[in-house]
Amino acid sequence: MTIKIDPKAIDALTNFTLPTEIGFGKTIVPIMAVTDYKDGVWSPLELLPYAPIVMDPTCKVLHYGQEIFEGMKAYHVEEKGPYLFRPMMNAKRFNLSAQRMAMPDIPEELYMEAVRSVVEYSTDFIPTKSGESLYLRPFMIATENSLGIKPSDSYKFMVIASPSGSYFKNEALKVLIEREFIRASPGGMGYAKTGGNYAGSLISAKKARDLGYEQTLWLDGLEKKYIEEMSGMNFFAVIDGKIVTPTIQDTILDGITRNSLITIAKDLGYEVSEEKFEIEKLLSSIEDGSCTECFACGTAAIITPIGLFGDCTNNTWEVKNPIGPVSSKLKETLLALQEGRLEDKHEWRMEVK
Ligand code: COI
Repeated sequence: MTIKIDPKAIDALTNFTLPTEIGFGKTIVPIMAVTDYKDGVWSPLELLPYAPIVMDPTCKVLHYGQEIFEGMKAYHVEEKGPYLFRPMMNAKRFNLSAQRMAMPDIPEELYMEAVRSVVEYSTDFIPTKSGESLYLRPFMIATENSLGIKPSDSYKFMVIASPSGSYFKNEALKVLIEREFIRASPGGMGYAKTGGNYAGSLISAKKARDLGYEQTLWLDGLEKKYIEEMSGMNFFAVIDGKIVTPTIQDTILDGITRNSLITIAKDLGYEVSEEKFEIEKLLSSIEDGSCTECFACGTAAIITPIGLFGDCTNNTWEVKNPIGPVSSKLKETLLALQEGRLEDKHEWRMEVK
């Protein structure tokens, strides 16, 4: 698999420098990998200078949201790597999302070559402090111009990259338990990484912000009784020394960080329980002190402790020492694996040569 390099992409990179404040998702490396799908065939992959996408106002993605994406990172700390972390899982999840949204699969080699090329050409712009990385955003959009509601007959797949620091400003999150709106229900598209799931979460994100919280904790769509996920992050708690997280089902995004943490935690000797996780169990265990830590995890968020929960009743539940030993140990181990400081016994790292 090869990629055609546009010399203008190389010119764009020559004139690019990293800002002093990196933030998350604000700075974009001035290149993009692109391939277009038409008549059942993906066009030859190209590395182009970063530029706006010109669209007809009837372009299907603008009206019906036929779109999917992934979030991945490349790590380049202490001159090691750059490394990707379990990238094939992202490629596979991308195609799972594609199937749910009636979009074509992208061959895994094509997906990987696009990601690999963007990382290779961006290597000089990967921030090098532990916890920083090059955030990669592969995505696919429906490009057919027509207002009929049907799957598009053409698509564009792209990979863009953003040198990024930490996703959250605060060390411990304040989280709103969403008891009014729901994010997903069985048979829906909650497991797919598609823009609509994030768009649908924004009303709650706004409400949370207005009430002084930073994130939403979603409950199941049928009974509003079980914890699901956190729009872009999965949820974990430590109760009686055991690590507890909701079981994956079709209403929850199957997080690669979540999956990795379960393995890491077991390797470290912790007991892990994936279960139907009642919100009332969480709250009563915070009240009686048996819940000692709660945290969110995801590619962007890494591991972010949660210090406070609240809901529309104005009740709050405070986790006493949110930055606890379990989440700290898991974060340290995860970063050491991702950044190349720890033996990679599960073969999760992929070096980009
Ligand atoms: C990620 O962690 O990659 C996400 O998709 C979260 C987000 C920034 C939407």
